[in-house]
Amino acid sequence: SPAIAYRLEAARAVVHDAARLAMSMRPAAGGPVGTQKAAQDWLTETDGAVEAFIAERMTALFPEDGFQGEEGGMAREGQLRWVVDPIDGTSNYARGRNRWCVSLGLLEGDTPVAGVIEAPALREVYTALLGHGAFLNGKRIQASPVKDPASAMIEMGWSNRVPKAVFIEKIDAIMSLGAMPRSGGSGALALADVACGRLDGYIEIVINLWDVAAALPLLAEAGACVSPFLHTGGLTGPATILAANPHIAQTLSEAVAIPLK
Ligand code: IPD
Repeated sequence: SPAIAYRLEAARAVVHDAARLAMSMRPAAGGPVGTQKAAQDWLTETDGAVEAFIAERMTALFPEDGFQGEEGGMAREGQLRWVVDPIDGTSNYARGRNRWCVSLGLLEGDTPVAGVIEAPALREVYTALLGHGAFLNGKRIQASPVKDPASAMIEMGWSNRVPKAVFIEKIDAIMSLGAMPRSGGSGALALADVACGRLDGYIEIVINLWDVAAALPLLAEAGACVSPFLHTGGLTGPATILAANPHIAQTLSEAVAIPLK
């Protein structure tokens, strides 16, 4: 609808300014800056500053919309609900690595309707509007055509929320298909990579809504298959996600025992 398209344009401008703020606060390469909320769960000053910036701008523009952030929690409920991850890939950001992004998604009830992901250190902006396509730097994207799992590259996300044995079991299953395993440190960017065909699949056993909210409309518009994250707990708490190109999705789903329906 025009109201959603208008919101996406506004979100794109706000995320762009937020990404510049994050770049200006970016630490030099080297030992990590920031603190650990829990084992290997990083927090920098930038996370708080960027979320506050986005919350203020979006609230001024759309005071009637719901707003939820990784750092601030559910500030406002609403049928339309913005979900922000100020820095996704904080562990990379904290070490001066390039693979991190600012992510802002919009849900209408339980439907992801729009998303913006900007990775300023990679000079990349992803946008999606339900029914109108997914784009990387303005060019239409789609999921990869790879059919043979033995030619596939599949990323798996990790956090301290997943027991080591479970992580190893799933990585083992991915490698048993002959696929190339990867782990890049930003769930949002990995899902965006599935949407634009740079990866054939992504799985994470326990991931939060703010890490995936902006990527879900991208995946839908790019023709990727996605497990029912929002309807298996993801709307209200951490849940499991699998996203893959439509050719290998079923095989991957069975191998790692994450249902697509
Ligand atoms: C993390 C990243 C990571 C994923 C974790 C997330 P953060 O988000 O997306 O790739 O594996 O589950 O918590 O902390 O960098 O916003």
